[in-house]
Amino acid sequence: MTSVPLIDPFARPISYLRVSVTDRCDFRCVYCMSENMTFLPKKELLTLEELDRMCSTFIRMGVEKLRITGGEPLVRREIMTFFRSMSRHLESGALQELTLTTNGSQLSRFAGDLYAAGVRRINVSLDTLDDAKFSRVTRWGKLSKVLDGIDAAQKAGLRVKINTVALKGFNEDELFSLTEWCASSDLDLTFIEVMPMGDLGGEDRVGQYWSLKDLRGQLAEQYTLKELDHRTGGPARYVELKETGQQLGFITPLTHNFCESCNRVRLTCTGELFMCLGQEDNADLRGPLRASESDTLLEDAIRAAIARKPKGHDFDYSRQTADGQVSRHMSHTGG
Ligand code: GTP
Ligand code: 5AD
Ligand code: SF4
Repeated sequence: MTSVPLIDPFARPISYLRVSVTDRCDFRCVYCMSENMTFLPKKELLTLEELDRMCSTFIRMGVEKLRITGGEPLVRREIMTFFRSMSRHLESGALQELTLTTNGSQLSRFAGDLYAAGVRRINVSLDTLDDAKFSRVTRWGKLSKVLDGIDAAQKAGLRVKINTVALKGFNEDELFSLTEWCASSDLDLTFIEVMPMGDLGGEDRVGQYWSLKDLRGQLAEQYTLKELDHRTGGPARYVELKETGQQLGFITPLTHNFCESCNRVRLTCTGELFMCLGQEDNADLRGPLRASESDTLLEDAIRAAIARKPKGHDFDYSRQTADGQVSRHMSHTGG
């Protein structure tokens, strides 16, 4: 590591980098994208070599956890070359975890390669176990393909965590069936509150919102919930269901802000660094990366960006409007 660790103005050490390697996706989830998205021309993207240089610089500066996101990261061409190349940082001990968040559609093909590159734990987004509802929420996805992918991942030795966005009137009736399915399939499960990101062409954000306070209340009617101290380095807080021993995670940007413990920044596929998911400010890192073969300019730009990391997001639905909304879509920064 270079001598001075990355610390933001609120004394938060930055040790977690999320990297969106493509803005494209083979799904069009209703809370994430509009139906007609315009994607970046391929020539705008950082090359795999440039992504490697970016990530390696962050790791040298103290990043210990690297999560690859998209869009859908597994639709980026030759992405396994990048994973294989990052595994050298696991071997050296500089990186503690190399992982990804995926929609699962390509896992049957890539699970073995991911394990071979040192990935041990992955997060798969899945909001329903009903075929027709799955097609409705993802617009383009097929449930059986994702379930096969999850199965392949487990067989390859990957620990799988399911991410479920809590959606009012959509998966409320599946709270217990999803929970039981994860328990019986040896999958971890985390629920997420829907955040106001991007213009979705008429989709009703406030109407979609199902608070996890409410969801927990419903769970507590059937289970005894015990708070756990266990952390995975992300924003989820975990409980144990005492009756079954199962662990459940909750990501609650709306009902319980977790910004005070924020440890992460986000790099997009064109080299913009977003210091907060819920704010518009970003820093261009592609310019300094391309301006010189040495990494000094890049390191300076990273430090300058972290020095203006904001305190937190302003998401708020309490006035029955989606306050604090940011204009970019979730797929731009990968959540
Ligand atoms: P773990 O390593 O399993 O803890 O993963 P993670 O929760 O860090 O990553 P994942 O990609 O699974 O993210 C789950 C959800 O949490 C996504 O919807 C993200 O948008 C959301 N999330 C992650 N980090 C932040 C954050 O800093 N702020 C907010 N508001 N949401 C976040
Ligand atoms: N609010 C909350 N979570 C979202 N995701 C995508 N869009 C939103 C949103 N508006 C989730 C995906 C995935 C993760 C990266 O972000 O389902 O699990
Ligand atoms: Fe960090 Fe911003 Fe997320 Fe808050 S909203 S946890 S500050 S990235």
